[in-house]
Amino acid sequence: MADCSSLAVCICCGSFFLGVTVLMPVMLALYASPSSPSFSVNLFDNQAINITRNGDDHSPTNLTIHFHLKVKNENSAIGLHYPDPLKITFSYFPNVSMIVTLAEYTVDSFYQGNGKTKHVIDVVETNGAPTVLDGTDLVAFRVDVVGSFRYKKVGTKRHKVELGCIVGVNYTTSQKLLSGFTGMKKPGLDSQLKPPPNNDYYGAY
Ligand SMILES: *[C@@H]1O[C@H](CO)[C@@H](O)[C@H](O)[C@H]1NC(C)=O
Ligand SMILES: *[C@@H]1O[C@H](CO)[C@@H](O)[C@H](O)[C@H]1NC(C)=O
Ligand SMILES: *[C@@H]1O[C@H](CO)[C@@H](O)[C@H](O)[C@H]1NC(C)=O
Ligand SMILES: *[C@@H]1O[C@H](CO)[C@@H](O)[C@H](O)[C@H]1NC(C)=O
Repeated sequence: MADCSSLAVCICCGSFFLGVTVLMPVMLALYASPSSPSFSVNLFDNQAINITRNGDDHSPTNLTIHFHLKVKNENSAIGLHYPDPLKITFSYFPNVSMIVTLAEYTVDSFYQGNGKTKHVIDVVETNGAPTVLDGTDLVAFRVDVVGSFRYKKVGTKRHKVELGCIVGVNYTTSQKLLSGFTGMKKPGLDSQLKPPPNNDYYGAY
């Protein structure tokens, strides 16, 4: 006579077995190696950009940048703290060896539940207008985010957030090269570019 003659015992054994072999590894994976949050940004969302527009005296007009930043907690089983304010920097490249800051924006420290997405939708006003990337008919905007996050788990350390992306806008047509959101990645060598010594520099008008 088999030991496992009772159906209830079998189901119990079976579900325990299922729990250990299937669910445990999934739970462990979720907790042991949670994912970093992902960041993406949509510049000039549904907004006509007219970079070429000048004032009556042909002096550069300040540019209003509408933006929509999405911060997604990619983990369905763990929350995220953002203990430091997130600093967003808007810049452009006048040429391949220089980056010029146009505006800065700060998002206060916040907590983000499992799998949640935070939306930051706002505008920044630049002091002056950007110029085209030397030798092209594009304005090469750059958006950078610097901050930190921590998993909602005892004894975990802060992880640095340092991500960026480039958004190209055709100077002639004022159209973005790629519409919609741009995913932000670890900045490359261009992030090491130095700003011009003169902080008030906003292009050769
Ligand atoms: C931008 O503004 C200027 C001056 O107001 C105008 O002449 C030009 O047609 C505009 N360009 C676009 C693409 O709207
Ligand atoms: C890049 O642009 C800045 C500002 O116009 C200028 O001072 C600098 O000399 C340029 N560098 C190169 C390599 O063209
Ligand atoms: C551009 O911004 C600067 C600094 O905020 C301000 O002094 C200037 O009046 C603005 N210019 C226009 C045309 O709005
Ligand atoms: C910008 O727009 C003009 C006019 O449509 C076009 O001729 C040019 O190729 C565009 N440039 C880029 C880099 O898309």
